[in-house]
Amino acid sequence: MISYKDLGLVNSRELFAKAVKGGYAIPAFNFNNMEQMQAIIMACVETKSPVILQVSSGARKYANQTILRYMAQGAVEYAKELGCNIPIVLHLDHGDSFELCRSCIEYGFSSVMIDGSHLPYDENVALTKKVVEYAHKYDVTVEGELGVLAGIEDEVSAERHTYTRPEEVQDFVAKTGVDSLAISVGTSHGAYKFKPGQKHEIRLDILAEIEKRIPGFPIVLHGSSSVPQDIVAEINHFGGNIKDSAGIPEDQLRLAAKSAVCKINIDSDGRLAMTAAVRRVLCEHPEEFDPRKYLGPAREKLKELYKHKVVNVLGSDNKI
Ligand code: G3H
Ligand code: 13P
Ligand code: ZN
Repeated sequence: MISYKDLGLVNSRELFAKAVKGGYAIPAFNFNNMEQMQAIIMACVETKSPVILQVSSGARKYANQTILRYMAQGAVEYAKELGCNIPIVLHLDHGDSFELCRSCIEYGFSSVMIDGSHLPYDENVALTKKVVEYAHKYDVTVEGELGVLAGIEDEVSAERHTYTRPEEVQDFVAKTGVDSLAISVGTSHGAYKFKPGQKHEIRLDILAEIEKRIPGFPIVLHGSSSVPQDIVAEINHFGGNIKDSAGIPEDQLRLAAKSAVCKINIDSDGRLAMTAAVRRVLCEHPEEFDPRKYLGPAREKLKELYKHKVVNVLGSDNKI
């Protein structure tokens, strides 16, 4: 058993309490390699923002859980070396079983998500409660989910959103003891969040209704990439093929962050930014074959994107 506390990580409890009070959200950025980790830490150190480093089960398979944990430990030391000891959470994104959550907790994660949103309500409650009981023994915080996002989450996909039912949230939170709750209000995973012609709008009215039922309780938004069209254009200009992409408008996310939303998940925008930079270098310099020559610019572009998110979308700058 490795305690996250020995690695210099923190759980999300205090960060969320401050975020809810302060009207901002903590960035939750996914990572599976060194350049992403460095970009996230540089961006958050430069803006003095707390940060959640997220690992999906796919990322865990790709990069290896032990390596990711050492990278998170490295992130803590790297932040100090850069001159700012920002709070860093290591979080399991979309945990789909008790066993996976337990394994991550034993390997040094400070926070886990148990995503029982595809299960019938009572099964979701039972599974989430079981994870909470185990996690809290080690002071690890737990995120649950109610409502199903449209799109693809790892192996599970849903054609349409099932919005979170505000009348269920109070009961779910009370029965499970979760520390935060992911909800479905029209965000979705990936780069194709709205169909052409569809209004780019999330249901802030449902969010407000949820907030009324559980005032001050930390709410999480998944699927919150904005799919910057200049980055998509850059990818396509340099040989890519990303058509009809659309994301969540940043002003809507800003409004959500000012209310009960205290964690905003962003992955796809980072993937797009890195891809654009890699494509540009390889197209403009076809003679290059040193990975540092394209991963370096990709890391730089990612850092700039995440600084923008922190300052202009989440409002978590200068909150350490
Ligand atoms: O919620 C999904 C995240 O973007 C992680 O995606 O499962 O492809 O690593 P992934
Ligand atoms: P995006 O695909 O919108 O970046 O969402 C990421 C996410 O929710 C990770 O859990
Ligand atoms: Zn997600």
